[in-house]
Formats: sequence, structure tokens, C-alpha cells
Amino acid sequence: VAASAPANTEVAFAALAASSGSKVLVPHGYVAEILYRWGDPCVAGSPEFAGDLSETSAVAEQQSGDNHDAINFFPFRNADGSERSDVGLLCINHEYLNPEYYYDKLVSDPGVVFTLEDARKGQAAHGVSIIEVMRNSNGKWNVNRNSTFNRRIHGNTQIDITGPARGNALLQTAADPTGTRVLGTLNNCGAGQTPWGTYITCEENFNGYFGANGAFTPDALQARYGLNANGFGYRWHESDPRFDLNANPNEPNRHGWVVEIDPFRPASTPKKRTALGRFKHENAELVIDPTTKKVVVYMGCDERFEYVYKFVSDAAYDESNMAANADILDTGTLYVAQFNDDGNAGDGVGVGVWIPLVFGNPNLTVGDGFLNQGDLLIRTRQAASAVGATPMDRPEWVAANPLKPGEVFVTLTNNSNRTLAQVDEANPRANNIYGHIIRINEMNEDATGTTFDWNIFLLAGDGTQELFNSPDGLQFDRLGRLWVQTDGNFNNVAPFAGHGNNQMLVADLEAGTVQRFFVGPDGCEVTGVTWTPDMRTMFVDIQHPGEVGSGAGHPNSINPATGVKYTEAELIADPTAFSSWPDGASASRPRSGTVVVRRTDGGIIGT
Ligand code: FEO
Ligand code: CA
Ligand code: CA
Ligand code: CA
Repeated sequence: VAASAPANTEVAFAALAASSGSKVLVPHGYVAEILYRWGDPCVAGSPEFAGDLSETSAVAEQQSGDNHDAINFFPFRNADGSERSDVGLLCINHEYLNPEYYYDKLVSDPGVVFTLEDARKGQAAHGVSIIEVMRNSNGKWNVNRNSTFNRRIHGNTQIDITGPARGNALLQTAADPTGTRVLGTLNNCGAGQTPWGTYITCEENFNGYFGANGAFTPDALQARYGLNANGFGYRWHESDPRFDLNANPNEPNRHGWVVEIDPFRPASTPKKRTALGRFKHENAELVIDPTTKKVVVYMGCDERFEYVYKFVSDAAYDESNMAANADILDTGTLYVAQFNDDGNAGDGVGVGVWIPLVFGNPNLTVGDGFLNQGDLLIRTRQAASAVGATPMDRPEWVAANPLKPGEVFVTLTNNSNRTLAQVDEANPRANNIYGHIIRINEMNEDATGTTFDWNIFLLAGDGTQELFNSPDGLQFDRLGRLWVQTDGNFNNVAPFAGHGNNQMLVADLEAGTVQRFFVGPDGCEVTGVTWTPDMRTMFVDIQHPGEVGSGAGHPNSINPATGVKYTEAELIADPTAFSSWPDGASASRPRSGTVVVRRTDGGIIGT
């Protein structure tokens, strides 16, 4: 805890009611100001957002990407080494794009021509922004547009592959016969921050970008990771052979990793850390075990019936020599979680085991289909299944309590596919449309250990507290308060009546209750939150405002002319029909963006 932060873990603010609408809402006495939107200049010299989609892919690679997700603040330091709270770097993930707002043509129509330049521009929407931000004398924050730290990492940035899978036969392609260097990072969802000053960004639904020209039948590995002939309809494979599963069957194996970026070295090459496993990574919550100083990274694989993981480094974190930690994430043990009952069924309490995913262990041998440790890591999901990991209700973020060693929380966002026969102690609801949060306490507070206790911290939407659904983003602040963000159904009609728009709440760890602090605009997801060390500024990301989404229509997403939800074609014709956040009257279309939240009296957030 920085000297400038108070030792006050109380939460006090005028909690918000659930609501729908076109604005960001924060409690009385707070302001929310937009800082950095899709299309805003990132790299020094970049043009402003045109608003008419006329940017080329080369320009889009210089501007902010789309669909802001995880965000971390990296403070600059004073000469004495103390952290500053008025200037630093923000690392921001760009997860995906919304074609109805990103292109002026109907991408979903196979009769519409989709060019390589269209694909390149789409690839530019993805990845990470690094921007220098500073607080002015009036308390407002700005991006320093001339900073030499400002950098875009996108779908075609050169990235090294490190760790046990580096050079593996399954990572070799015609463009990279050594299997050591890949272009780009995609679907950057959650993230994490290391104490040696790097950002670890997570590749989630990478499978959606791949497709196949011609007949295609996935093999077992491809099927397990959801690869198919059409992907999510991005159409990149039509013009860019890298995304054609028939032309480059190994290219998807080079995605689905955690990528480490050094934001303070703009010329550095990011590294895909294969020791942390290959799956649909949500975030990467990194803690230093206080006893052994080993690095522990907690991670979820976000898909129905997938797993919770952790990585434990072999080496100890060296606090006195930051450079010594540069490749510490390359060597260690990956574990997957098994959640068992404690003998008292139905009370939401249990015990657990971390099972090592080490080549040669029982069920992880050549006879079981694994060739070596690198091969096993490329097939992490299959290895985890082979050792009996517990299938969960879509593990999203993991957050570690900074005040209680060995305590972590995991959001299980929802799982409408779980049947009554599949219910277990850790996933206790069939048709789990609201989601839940599990608390894990490592045995003897030892994050490097292999056993733990767990309990269900809360069941969302159960009526015992504020209504919300689909907990997703999860982050402790340095005062030990747990912030919960949602990515769920915002229709506000039964069975989601009273939930309102997606939101952010803060949890009382003792009572297991939550208070609503922030409500996002229509159609958005609220995801990613970080603070300055003095806790007087909070940065929150708003992702995909104006996304119509699935299910019943949001009240404002219904086209009055048709009585049903706006279609992709209708939103291309009238991009502000559903949402004009954040630009309001001057908007050309809704834009994902980073919001600054602060108190008008300059006080500590939430106290
Ligand atoms: Fe990108 Fe699982 O959220
Ligand atoms: Ca129990
Ligand atoms: Ca998420
Ligand atoms: Ca989600």
C-alpha cells in the first residue's frame, strides 16, 4: 500500500438504483468523464477519429482499438521511487469489434465483398493500447498525445513465443517454420499486472477469427477449442490465408495464450508465455507468495463447463533486481482446479485440489496422446479434462485479496446449459442464468500449495441483495475492497427485471452483499477497472455501447418502425438509432471508451 493511500477499508457512498438509459451513472458527489474512445489518436501523430469509417487499416493501427476491456494503471515514479498518482501509463485491452458500427457494409451478407484491407482494418481494432495519461490542475485527466510511450499492439504486431511450447511442431507455419514468432494478439479480454512493471494480456475467443475455404472437418484439438469453417463471421480467412484453417492449420495454436508486454519499453517485443497454458483466457491475476516469493497466476477459461487454473513459478520473485524477473513466467507448473464437496452437501462449502498439468504424470503420457510438455500446453483443455478438473459455469475473472494471503475470488458468469443432473456443490444451479462468485482460501494461506477450501460467496440474482446478473470483471483495490462488474442480460424484463443496465458494484466481504456504484449506458458491458495509487481516480472501461445483443429486446433497442430489435443493416443506415454514447448529439455512432471516475471534492473513491 502506497504511503498516500489511507488504511480505510470502509465503503461509503450513496448507492445507485438499477436503471436503463443512455448515460454513465455514478453516485452523488462523483463525476464520470470520457478519456479515450475507439478511434481516438493513440500513437503520436495519429489522425483524429473521422467518424465516417474512412480510416485505412494503417491509420486504424495508430488509433485506439475497439471494445475496451481490461485496464491497468502503471504509475510513474518520483526520484525517491515512490509512486505518482497524477501521471502514468494505461494499458487497455481491445477485445473485438462490432461490425454494425465498424464497417459501412453488411459483413454478415456473404454476397457483400470483404477485402484484405477490410480484414486488416478489423485486425487493427484488436490488441492493446498503451497511453500516457496525466491529471491537470483542475483535476481532469488527459491523454498525452505526444508521449513516446503511446503504442498500439494489434492483430499484426510481431510477438515472440516463449516457454515450453516455443518451437513446438504444432506452432510451426510456412511463415514461421521455427514456431517462435507470431503476428498479433486477438480477443484481448482480461489482463493482469506484474510487480516488475509489465502487463499480462489474455487471449480469449481467438477461435472466432478463423474459418476455412473449402471443406473442413476439425480434428480433436481444433474441435476442443471451437474452431470451425465459419468462425464468428469475421470473414478474415477469405482474403488472409493466415486465418484459413485449410491453408494454415497450425496458426490457431499460436493464439489462446497470455502475452506479457513491457509498457515502459515501447520498442520491446511482447511475449506469449506458453507455460501459462493455452485456453480461452479471461484474466491473469498475479500474486507473490509472501513466504516463498514465488509468482502465482490465477486464471479462468471462459466457456461453459471449462476450468480454473493457476501457475506457480519455479523461481522466486527478486524484489531487488527487476530485470531478473523478466522471464520468470517461462518456467513453472500449471495446475487445474478440482472443486469437491466437504462431506456436507448443499451448504455451498467444499474443499479443492490443484492438479499439476505435467507431462508424464498419470493420464498425461505419450500413451494418453501428449508428446511432451509443449504439446500438452497447446492442448491444455484436453490435459485438464484428462486429470479430472471440475467443469465450471464459465470462469471469468479471478481477483486476489491484497489483505489476506491465499484468498481469491472467481466469477462464474452464467451457464444456461447446466442441467439438473450436472449440478454440483460448486455449480449449484441448473440453468444458471444469473451466475455466482466463489471464494477460494488456499490451505495455510499458501498460494503455491495444492489444496484449498472454498465457499460460494454469492449467488447473483437470488433476491437477497441488489439485483444483477452475470458477474464478469472482478478486481480488488489496494484497500481490500472487491469490485464486481457485469456482462449480462440488460433487457430489464423478466427474469432480469430490476437488473437494469450492466453495472459495477462493490462487495462487503463479511456480509456477502453488494452495493451498486456505477451503471453503464444502454447495450454496454462494464469491464476493466483500475485506480491511481492514491485511490482518488478510478478508470473504468465501457465496452460495446449500443450492442443489441441476444434474447428479448432492451426497451431502447426496439426499432419503433418495426417493433423488433434493430438489425445490423438498420444500424449501418442509422448508427445512433440505439445508442449515441459517449458523444451524444455530435455522435456518428456509439464508441467503446475509458471513463475517469473521481470525486468532485478530490476524495478517496468509495469512502
Ligand atoms: Fe471476454 Fe469472458 O469475457
Ligand atoms: Ca459442502
Ligand atoms: Ca469478460
Ligand atoms: Ca462475459
